[in-house]
Order: sequence, then C-alpha cells, then structure tokens
Amino acid sequence: MKKIAVLIGSARKGGNTELLTNAFVKGAQEHHEVTMIFAAKVKVNGCIGCNACYSDEKHRCIQKDDMEQIYSQLKDADAIVIATPVYFYNVSSQLKCIIDRLHNPIRDEFKVKQLFLLAVAADTNPTVFDSIKVMYQSVLHYFHLKDGGMITVPGVKDRGDIVGHKALEDAYQLGKNIE
Ligand SMILES: Cc1cc2nc3c(=O)[nH]c(=O)nc-3n(C[C@H](O)[C@H](O)[C@H](O)COP(=O)(O)O)c2cc1C
Repeated sequence: MKKIAVLIGSARKGGNTELLTNAFVKGAQEHHEVTMIFAAKVKVNGCIGCNACYSDEKHRCIQKDDMEQIYSQLKDADAIVIATPVYFYNVSSQLKCIIDRLHNPIRDEFKVKQLFLLAVAADTNPTVFDSIKVMYQSVLHYFHLKDGGMITVPGVKDRGDIVGHKALEDAYQLGKNIE
C-alpha cells in the first residue's frame, strides 16, 4: 500500500478538476491510502524568496501559515498528484503558491518517487496544456521522479462539463493501477 497525496488546484466545488480527481482517487483508494489537499481551502502565501529556510536548521519557513501542515502531509507521500484547471496556460495561483513553497530544503526529506498530472481546460486545442506539461516534465527530470501518468482534458468549461467524458474512466483506471 502506497501513500498518495493529491494537490487539488481548483476552487470550484463540483468542478471539472474535482470530478476528474475524484475518479482517480476512487481507483487509487482501492489499494492505497489517499490524502487530498484542497489548495483553495488552505491559507498558503506565495514564497517571498528570503531563503531563510535554507539557513534554518529545521528548514522552517518564516511565514506561519498552513504550509507547515502541508509539508508534513507531503513528507510521507510515495506519490504526489497535481490536479489543476488551466488558468492562463498554467496551474491555478492557489496551487502555484504551494508548489513555490517547495523551494525549501525540507523537500530533500520527502520520500516521493512518482508524480501524476490531472488537468482540465476550456480550450478545445490540446496545446493549451503545453506549458503545464513542460513544467511537469522539468520537475520529473530535476527531482529524478517517475512519471505515473497524465490525463489532460480540453474542451471542458462550465461546472460538470466533464460528466460522461471518457477521461473519468481513464482517471479511475490510472488511480486503480498505481504500482
Ligand atoms: C482565472 C481563469 C483562467 C483561465 N484560463 C484558461 C486558459 O488559459 N485556457 C483555457 O482553456 N481555459 C482557461 N480557463 C477555464 C478553465 O480552465 C475551465 O473552465 C476549467 O474547466 C475549470 O475547471 P474547474 O471546473 O475545476 O474549476 C480559465 C478559468 C479561470 C477562472
């Protein structure tokens, strides 16, 4: 049994990211322990680049917010899932704040070996995901992580547009088949 941490970037309840993520999680929970972290429900400020965490012996961040609990949730995860709507060709700002705060040597204590990407966008052109994919591939390469798989769903704009989409079954299977 693996520990899977899911970072959900959408603030829209019942939105396309959430439905796609729920399908993935349903599959993953059949064999693994899943923790869901909703970026819009936590208070995490953007990194201010002071690098105080690099000189602190315990790598504490000087900003006292919910990131402290997120570091502990991510620390034990074997796999991390990035789930996001496309916002201006990138991940949502709430999710980006969490990602930027991983510019902290505490990440060297993380066990994570594998990453997954789930993303949705209104644009019907699949190139809408290109910049997120470049970020994802760069992170895999830099941290020597394994690509668990990615599901990107273009053409879903309004809440629930993804209902009935084949991607939901694909996400379920991806979660279910995590090794
Ligand atoms: C601030 C904002 C920026 C967006 N930027 C893009 C974009 O650059 N390209 C795109 O195709 N869709 C964009 N969208 C649309 C969302 O990606 C789309 O509606 C998605 O289904 C929302 O997912 P959710 O239901 O999980 O919130 C944007 C939406 C918002 C609110």
